[in-house]
Amino acid sequence: MKIGVAKEIKPDEYRVALTPAGALELGRRGHDVSVETRAGDGSSFPDSAYEAVGARIVSLEDVWADSDLLLKVKEPIASEYPRLREGLILFTYLHIAADEPLTRALVESGITAVAYETVETDNHALPLLAPMSEIAGRLAAQAGAYFLEKPLGGRGLLLGGVPGVAPGRVVVIGGGIVGYNAAVIAIGLGANVTILERSIDRMRHLDEILSGRVSLVMSSSLQIEESVTEADVVIGAVLIPGAVAPKLVTREMVREMKQGAVFCDVAIDQGGCAETSHPTTHSDPVYEVDGVTHYCVANMPGAVPITSTKALTNATLPYVEAVADYGLAEAVARDPALARGVNALDGRVTYEAVAEAHNLEYTPLEDVLPLSPV
Ligand SMILES: NC(=O)c1ccc[n+]([C@@H]2O[C@H](COP(=O)([O-])OP(=O)(O)OC[C@H]3O[C@@H](n4cnc5c(N)ncnc54)[C@H](O)[C@@H]3O)[C@@H](O)[C@H]2O)c1
Repeated sequence: MKIGVAKEIKPDEYRVALTPAGALELGRRGHDVSVETRAGDGSSFPDSAYEAVGARIVSLEDVWADSDLLLKVKEPIASEYPRLREGLILFTYLHIAADEPLTRALVESGITAVAYETVETDNHALPLLAPMSEIAGRLAAQAGAYFLEKPLGGRGLLLGGVPGVAPGRVVVIGGGIVGYNAAVIAIGLGANVTILERSIDRMRHLDEILSGRVSLVMSSSLQIEESVTEADVVIGAVLIPGAVAPKLVTREMVREMKQGAVFCDVAIDQGGCAETSHPTTHSDPVYEVDGVTHYCVANMPGAVPITSTKALTNATLPYVEAVADYGLAEAVARDPALARGVNALDGRVTYEAVAEAHNLEYTPLEDVLPLSPV
């Protein structure tokens, strides 16, 4: 298969969808790998590193026009919409439940769009979201600690305190992968950490692995209100897979928060879990609402591209190999987790939550592709 790797053009996005090590693996399996000029620069992979493992360096036009399978990191932005086309399989983060113009552009183009974030195993794990969630969660705790500093508009509080002075309070809403990793770093900094979660099973698991080091509390509107008003840092880390994030933190709750507190809405890539959240970028990461610093960077792992690119390729490569080796139809027939990643195909929306979010018709994937093992 002809596999292309496009350069990311979203502001402050330095990741690339394939490392030279991944390119070598695909080349060894007999596939033809083309990488757009300077696609790996931001992750410290120069063109020469790809050429050294047998990949070709090609132009922007060629990587989109000549590939069968195009690997990206972030969703296409408006200037890339004209490049979407029938016959191309796009494998990338899409988050289209929160992006109607892109959903329509994908459907109208007839492209096959496979979303990393909706590849989901039978036990509901999200293997291609997990590595980025680990990174974003760890960064969220760092960002929270950083923006508490007075010169940056914060309360002027050292999150970990010092002997004789109490530490700050971190409230994490959603105890999944982002929430767990945020909590681990916040605990490491010495903060007083509470996780609000709504899954009892997940709380039991968190209790096993974090026992005694965090407070675990059942999430409810009342509990969220009480917790966020006492917090110095709130980290929004909820997810309803493939759907828009629920607005759990209302404008009134933000008004009741401490002046100079920090709200890191990691769930911003799914629309955000506060009524006051809107996406920001690494070059302008924060804004203030009612005295609360909001950090809502939609592509947090982009800040640490060397770590993120390697972690992403580690996770995506087995799926890329499956699509390349078997073709999409057979690969999704063999692997239900990959099948759940297909969001659009042949002009149809094949992921139910996306269709619902935009009032579009939903077509089950098995109505378009045969899913019984071949
Ligand atoms: N901004 C970024 O750069 C970035 C990077 C990675 C992930 N994310 C986003 O972070 C969010 C969390 O991702 P994740 O991998 O941790 O997901 P996850 O599925 O591992 O965890 C989500 C958790 O939220 C819990 N939850 C759902 N509704 C809740 C509620 N009402 N109250 C409390 N908990 C609730 C679920 O039970 C689950 O444990 C997602 O929206 C994801 O897209 C953002």
